Amino acid sequence: MPFWLRLLLLLSVPLIQSDGCSFSSGNMTDDRQKVTLAAILPTTNTDYPWSWPRVAPALNQAISRVNCDPWLLPGLKLHLVHGNSENNAGYCSDSMAPLVAVDLKLAHDPWAFIGPGCDYSSSPVARFTTHWDVPMVTAGARAIGFKTYGAVTNTGPTHLKLGEFSLKIQETFGWQRHAMLVYSDNKDSNDDRPYYFAVEGVYDLLRIQNISTYDYSLENDINYKLVVQKIRENGRVVYVCCPLDIFRNLMVQFWKEGADLENFVFFFIDLFAEGLGGGRSARPWYQGDQDDYAAKLAFRSVKVLTYMEPHNPEYFQFVETLKRDAKESFNFTIKDSLYNLVAASFYDGVMLYSQALNETLSQHRTGPGPIKRPKGDLVTRRMWNRTFSGDPSRFHVCLFWTDLAVG
Ligand SMILES: *[C@@H]1O[C@H](CO)[C@@H](O)[C@H](O)[C@H]1NC(C)=O
Ligand SMILES: *[C@@H]1O[C@H](CO)[C@@H](O)[C@H](O)[C@H]1NC(C)=O
Ligand SMILES: *[C@@H]1O[C@H](CO)[C@@H](O)[C@H](O)[C@H]1NC(C)=O
Ligand SMILES: *[C@@H]1O[C@H](CO)[C@@H](O)[C@H](O)[C@H]1NC(C)=O
Ligand SMILES: *[C@@H]1O[C@H](CO)[C@@H](O)[C@H](O)[C@H]1NC(C)=O
Repeated sequence: MPFWLRLLLLLSVPLIQSDGCSFSSGNMTDDRQKVTLAAILPTTNTDYPWSWPRVAPALNQAISRVNCDPWLLPGLKLHLVHGNSENNAGYCSDSMAPLVAVDLKLAHDPWAFIGPGCDYSSSPVARFTTHWDVPMVTAGARAIGFKTYGAVTNTGPTHLKLGEFSLKIQETFGWQRHAMLVYSDNKDSNDDRPYYFAVEGVYDLLRIQNISTYDYSLENDINYKLVVQKIRENGRVVYVCCPLDIFRNLMVQFWKEGADLENFVFFFIDLFAEGLGGGRSARPWYQGDQDDYAAKLAFRSVKVLTYMEPHNPEYFQFVETLKRDAKESFNFTIKDSLYNLVAASFYDGVMLYSQALNETLSQHRTGPGPIKRPKGDLVTRRMWNRTFSGDPSRFHVCLFWTDLAVG
């Protein structure tokens, strides 16, 4: 019997389809003033949930919705430009992203930046945008440190929210001690330390509530025997964030050592359900080798923590459009369905920004002539702590855990 615990995470996202407004590109009478949004996202590497082929269709949907609305930003027209945050090898880069940000700033003087997504490329851009006082709206930049940057608005699920969720778990069961965090961290690799940053959210929140935690980092050559020993000495509630095959090895080792597994609970943090094949596999222990049996038994102590896809028709419709546009514009077939939550949150960001811009301009009228870009801070302030209301079609981004149905 699966047991579900859900927590409302973030914004509700309104989704409207339909395009076909009268402002077509060939319309000579459209003399509205251009408002540039500058996106900084990985152009080619679709392993990232915020890669351009995944997100651009969502941004274009949102921009088209805003530009077709005759009341939201009258006289203005959103316009999207894009820079690449990848290095030559196709990875997120903390040196490319700020260079691209400076180039875009000089060339277009954007009213807002969209992205970046990766933590290391976002952090210098967050510093610049805060210095320039230009809003930076992103559904990435999930690390807990971004809450200190004045210009940054996160519309996607952040690791702070993951921390709040784990705190909720701890409180629900009255667990005050023996929490343990185990995570992969290969500092010399090209990745963005996703496991480290995810666990940091949990670490911070539990620490604030004085829940004693012990953290353990898995480096390149993992001594599973030692890890099991550390867990037995220090943990009862164990949050593990690493690739699935490493986690499975760990659980198999645990079982082989005859540990009293029923005294432990493991939360496997797999936010986009990548280890579960995007949620398609209900048997994450299965690899078709001699360890399947042990793994299956050990996984009885495991709960998997992932984001949850909404089930409402509006979201379904949004994803259908997203897939069609990604195919048409980028010849890209979207498969990993939970990644669409990120695209939806970018959509959300454009809508949120437009609403905040409307309110700012309504209150701070500029004189005659072209409308001036308002101080970023005035707009950003109106985006924080906001949810949309009054829109019938919306969804919530949730986290959930599920017990695996292990016989
Ligand atoms: C151009 O836009 C105006 C609205 O500003 C609309 O009335 C007109 O029909 C459009 N013309 C074309 C050719 O799309
Ligand atoms: C955590 O412990 C510190 C020092 O013992 C105390 O001041 C603080 O109020 C505690 N916080 C919570 C949330 O219990
Ligand atoms: C689209 O992608 C597929 C496989 O990824 C490739 O075989 C095909 O040539 C591409 N089509 C175009 C028009 O680029
Ligand atoms: C903001 O939106 C309202 C209604 O949605 C509209 O009446 C108003 O003109 C807008 N204000 C600005 C400054 O665009
Ligand atoms: C947003 O909400 C948090 C907690 O509810 C609060 O601490 C913070 O000051 C609020 N920020 C703004 C800009 O309203």
